[in-house]
Amino acid sequence: MLNYKIGILVDKPSEKNDTEGNSANQQKQITAEKIKEALCEDYELSKITADKKIIEKLRNSDVDIVFNLSTGVRGGSRQSQIPAIMEMIGIPYVGSGVLTHAMALNKAVAKKMFLYHNVLTPRFQVFATGKEEIDTDLNFPIIVKPACEGSGFGIHKDSVVNDKESLLKKVEELLKEYRPPILAEEFIKGREFTVGIIGNGDKKRILPIMEIDFKDIPEEYGKFYTFEVKSELGDQTRYYCPASLNKEQEKSIKKIASKAFDSLGCRDLARIDIILKGGTPYVIEVNSLPGLQPVYSDLPKMADAAGISYKALINRILEESVKRIKSKERRAVYGR
Ligand SMILES: Nc1ncnc2c1ncn2[C@@H]1O[C@H](COP(=O)(O)OP(=O)(O)O)[C@@H](O)[C@H]1O
Ligand SMILES: [Mg+2]
Repeated sequence: MLNYKIGILVDKPSEKNDTEGNSANQQKQITAEKIKEALCEDYELSKITADKKIIEKLRNSDVDIVFNLSTGVRGGSRQSQIPAIMEMIGIPYVGSGVLTHAMALNKAVAKKMFLYHNVLTPRFQVFATGKEEIDTDLNFPIIVKPACEGSGFGIHKDSVVNDKESLLKKVEELLKEYRPPILAEEFIKGREFTVGIIGNGDKKRILPIMEIDFKDIPEEYGKFYTFEVKSELGDQTRYYCPASLNKEQEKSIKKIASKAFDSLGCRDLARIDIILKGGTPYVIEVNSLPGLQPVYSDLPKMADAAGISYKALINRILEESVKRIKSKERRAVYGR
């Protein structure tokens, strides 16, 4: 038994009774339980629910480290809300910090950071009002998506448009349904991969690359990772891990994933979505709070392909986090 008290912090189940909300909720609760099981031999554990009393709960808690699973309450920087409270109180936590979660959750901001750090990402335009002039440098097809969502929310077959009229129509539709801004980016036709990274600095471990293949998905759903494919068509989606890649492709995908991780100042764990087109990898997004549900989520699947059990993965993430918290290096990244 190690001497740390770990608090597993998970969101309060939401009262929102929609399909998108419900599936996310269930997954969070299962994940919290499984993480507890994975760590119970070595640590003293408690589950902390992020409800209205969270500030008081954290202030009065004697946990040494929080294993943060919270996606926050609302707003375009929601993933940063609980980390901000923990920083305010002075409780170290597993995973990325306030600024990183805020940047990663806003795909428009993340893409601007990628550009600054020479991380190739599809060309894009940001729509805050829908009244903007369309950038004539953008080439169709274009995918239109909410900038600050995840899990395929707002991404459906008709998100890919081929002309200006449909682009503006889709932007307008998404502006009504989701918080602005809306992101329009060149749709890259290629092979899709996702890359899991655990650890920090030069010692980051890049897990075996996973390819997601949509060839068996019926045409009516779209041959990419739409909400419907993510939530309902898991059985018909092909996952290959490790993906079949030549050495050069593997190297370039791992290199860009690692650069994307660093460009947003990620810590401990993240998962990066990449499209490979003709040997060139493009970064689509960084998931700074990747799912950790055993069997179901990508990161545990990738760990499994590397011979790392779920228990070992969760312990490893926590150990990497402890190492980082103990090290002074963390202060060098984005001033933390
Ligand atoms: N620019 C793009 N080119 C090709 N496919 C894309 C692009 N943007 C998104 N996609 C497809 O849509 C899916 C979801 O987009 P993503 O930005 O990763 O949103 P989410 O946060 O919901 O996962 C991707 O996994 C990919 O299949
Ligand atoms: Mg994604």
